[in-house]
Amino acid sequence: MNKKERIGIYPGTFDPVTLGHLDIILRASEIFDKIIIAVSENPYKNPLFSLEERIDMLRKSVKHPRVTVESFSGLLVDYVANKNASVIIRGLRSATDFNYEFLMAQTNNKLSKNIETIFLISKTEYSFISSSLVREIASYGGNIAHFVPEIVGKMVKTKIYKKKT
Ligand code: PNS
Repeated sequence: MNKKERIGIYPGTFDPVTLGHLDIILRASEIFDKIIIAVSENPYKNPLFSLEERIDMLRKSVKHPRVTVESFSGLLVDYVANKNASVIIRGLRSATDFNYEFLMAQTNNKLSKNIETIFLISKTEYSFISSSLVREIASYGGNIAHFVPEIVGKMVKTKIYKKKT
């Protein structure tokens, strides 16, 4: 009998992708047969990078045969169901994350009973990194090399430079 493929959906805004995100993706790829990174358009967050730029940054940063990058709009639970998946993966950095994630996981489970959220706890070295911190440091000309992949660092600098000129 064929074993069912285990698909994990890793959703987020990724504005931009950080080393913390990449660590979660790598660790999740050991648990699931296939990971789909689902980039949310997320107009409510008014992202610095366009959806295409965020996808491009992820595709350039993640080279794994079982990990793909896609975008989605609308409700996450609908997207997950469309992919014939039932598991959402999220990273947890702190108790502050927990409050937000707890509500989101419960809401998604209420919207669709078959959908579960699993959490991977951030490693200590990544637990303080956030996309918003990266954007802020870069906007003041600070060094973001310890927070994002090299290619993303270049793209962030170009974007911020363009914004200022
Ligand atoms: O990386 P983020 O910004 O914390 O990711 C948040 C995201 C994209 C996972 C969340 O905002 C989301 O799922 N948006 C899609 C719309 C939706 O389903 N909202 C209800 C979730 S409770």
